[in-house]
Amino acid sequence: MLKVSMEFIYEILEIMENNEKESFEDIIESISKILKRDLKIHISLEKLNGLTYEEGIISDKKFSIPIGTTYFSFILTGVGIEKDLDDKDIEFLRILALLIKGYLKKKEAKILKDLTFSFISKRNINELFEEILKKLEKIIPYTSANIGLLENDTLQYLSFRGYEKYKADEFINSFKMKREEFYTLDTVLRTKKPLLIEDTKDYPFWVFIPQTAWIRSLLMIPIIYGDKITGIISFDSDKAYTFSERDIEKVNSVIPILALSLENAKLYESLKKELEEKIIIEKSLKSSLYQVIRIASDLVETRDPYTVGHQKKVARISVIIGREMKLPQERLRFIAICALLHDIGKIAIPSEIMNKPSFLTPLERSLVNTHSEIGYKILKKINILGEVAPVVYQHHERWNGSGYPLGLKGDEIFLEARIIAVADVVEAMTSHRPYRPALPLESAIKEILDKKGVLYDPLVVDTFIHALENGKIRF
Ligand SMILES: [Fe+2]
Repeated sequence: MLKVSMEFIYEILEIMENNEKESFEDIIESISKILKRDLKIHISLEKLNGLTYEEGIISDKKFSIPIGTTYFSFILTGVGIEKDLDDKDIEFLRILALLIKGYLKKKEAKILKDLTFSFISKRNINELFEEILKKLEKIIPYTSANIGLLENDTLQYLSFRGYEKYKADEFINSFKMKREEFYTLDTVLRTKKPLLIEDTKDYPFWVFIPQTAWIRSLLMIPIIYGDKITGIISFDSDKAYTFSERDIEKVNSVIPILALSLENAKLYESLKKELEEKIIIEKSLKSSLYQVIRIASDLVETRDPYTVGHQKKVARISVIIGREMKLPQERLRFIAICALLHDIGKIAIPSEIMNKPSFLTPLERSLVNTHSEIGYKILKKINILGEVAPVVYQHHERWNGSGYPLGLKGDEIFLEARIIAVADVVEAMTSHRPYRPALPLESAIKEILDKKGVLYDPLVVDTFIHALENGKIRF
């Protein structure tokens, strides 16, 4: 009879409890060491490999007890026992087998939990499938495996593993398995059941392909979602008789996860496509919008050659002021569009007035002053530029209410219009005009500093001066 102490049981339990980092094999090795040390029993866990020991063998010299779960199947065997085993020893060994089985169940739950977690945490479907194949490698003796998506009776591999060593990875990557060409696929689709080929040499319908000639045994399991086959998980081996019915059982536990993932993958792919299309449309819309803006902007300037580039320069200065004021990117883009179009109303002013080489008469001046209102009316009609119109309308309003067309004051004027007003006056003063040469930058600075808080928003003026001093605006 063996001397089994409680300490010994506790020691084994402790190893099983603290198994977080150790692998399953390490745990069994540790238990085996204690058994050898205390009981002189040489114990090993052997893979069942498809064999089933319903009862096990227990005699007074040796024992083997099957331990099986969904994932793991092992035999607890003891050889070289120095002492005869009595009923109590056998009882102890059965309890030990139960403990290991309990431990395996926990391990199994952890694997399932990990897989589920992977499923939730991984958005990339390929990454998830690769991980599933990697985890299954520990419990299914495959040499290569793949997960394929079924669409229109054709199987295409989303994920695969182990084909590099047969130099078949590139082949698998681009391979499409059509139902009418492969009896194996047809069989799985027809029966909706797993297909196990123990030896491809004995399988009369095996399709010979040089790149897969090394496959000797094969297991194909349909991935069913609802009542539809959405994909197939397959395992290959370069040896015959590798897989068993038990392997099907093991894979069955991950089929729901695979099915759900495939369904999600399809959904995800179609969503991604939809999104990509949306982005492309938006991009082309944006670029065509810019084209329209540029053409419209240039159009005004072709009628007023002295102001060529004026709106672009105003846009550049306005954006720098806006950026210095820490306005968000989207608003800076908006300011740029407003500035590029701020004088679009000049298109309606006779070019003789626009290009008049002398100062304008009061009547001519009032005609020119209508350009902000005309600009507003033009832009208002264009849906996508609707928001730009009010800013253009206000770009000649002044801080103290002395501007036109409405005589708005301070905050009543949009910030965009207040920024453009400062950029506009500085750019206009430092540029050549038909009636005067370009003025030095100092004059423009003096003008906006003198009229700061009178005609121009003091904060905008200060920001402009600050940007100028820091070299952010150059003339
Ligand atoms: Fe203007």
